[in-house]
Amino acid sequence: MGYIRIDNLTKMYMGRRSKPRNLHDPIERSGDNILVLNNISMSFEEGEMVCILGPSGCGKSTLLRVIAGFENPTYGAIWVGGKPVIGPSDQSIFVFQHSGLFPWMTVAQNVGLGLRHMADKAAKKAKIKEFIEIVELDGFEDYYPHQLSGGMQRRAELARAIAVNPDLLIMDEPFSGLDFLTHMKMREEVVNMHEFIRKTTLVVTHDIDDALIMGDRIVVFSGRPAAVKMIHKLDFPRPRDFERDHGLSRLRSEIFLMLGVPYAV
Ligand SMILES: Nc1ncnc2c1ncn2[C@@H]1O[C@H](COP(=O)(O)OP(=O)(O)OP(=O)(O)O)[C@@H](O)[C@H]1O
Ligand SMILES: [Mg+2]
Repeated sequence: MGYIRIDNLTKMYMGRRSKPRNLHDPIERSGDNILVLNNISMSFEEGEMVCILGPSGCGKSTLLRVIAGFENPTYGAIWVGGKPVIGPSDQSIFVFQHSGLFPWMTVAQNVGLGLRHMADKAAKKAKIKEFIEIVELDGFEDYYPHQLSGGMQRRAELARAIAVNPDLLIMDEPFSGLDFLTHMKMREEVVNMHEFIRKTTLVVTHDIDDALIMGDRIVVFSGRPAAVKMIHKLDFPRPRDFERDHGLSRLRSEIFLMLGVPYAV
């Protein structure tokens, strides 16, 4: 059955110039309509970290937005935790590609946003401290976003997202724009965070190594309209290492090839 179930999902963005004449034909691309996701079905288990790869513009962010309930499917349906997705929910938290921290709030205030419902001030403060420690930002509680580096802002955002205690964490390219070392460190932190909270997590990344190091499951999409090219459960032991694990490095070469790079770099 799956914790997340995606059934025959098709998403078409309707162009301004024309509407499709036959709404029952998902392949119709009359005028400037764009078919983005083409009849996708798949399911993910509770607590899994699912990494999604695919060429630029294929529809990965669209898929995340539909799962989060920000966009409606054109056809098909999505269930999360046995309930159909009909709109955004407090239980699904989206971490966007660009910082969504409130600039007029400190790190602690931003993280505390997810804990608005807690009346007990001392308990709330302790919780904020706990989440700030998970992302290793202790000492920066009273800093404002503009006083933090890009990587620190991402970590604060991650702390704010997990403070909400969502059932589903959705991340769209969480490491884009970070320098190499910060990227590596953040990746390790997301893996540790996931080990710790064990919430179902969907991550879109354009980095094949990220997907193979982090994922319990990996999905590779074709170019637009996105269709599933590969869906693979990753049973490789952690911490994962391409040098030691030949199965992992073979899969890496296979995915490079699948995405149009004939040799693994
Ligand atoms: N709101 C929208 N209205 C119309 N077309 C859209 C809209 N959002 C996305 N698209 C189109 O849908 C296609 C897929 O976009 P999407 O952002 O989902 O791709 P992506 O796989 O996330 O790409 P990238 O890897 O570059 O982030 C693109 O051709 C884009 O132009
Ligand atoms: Mg995108």
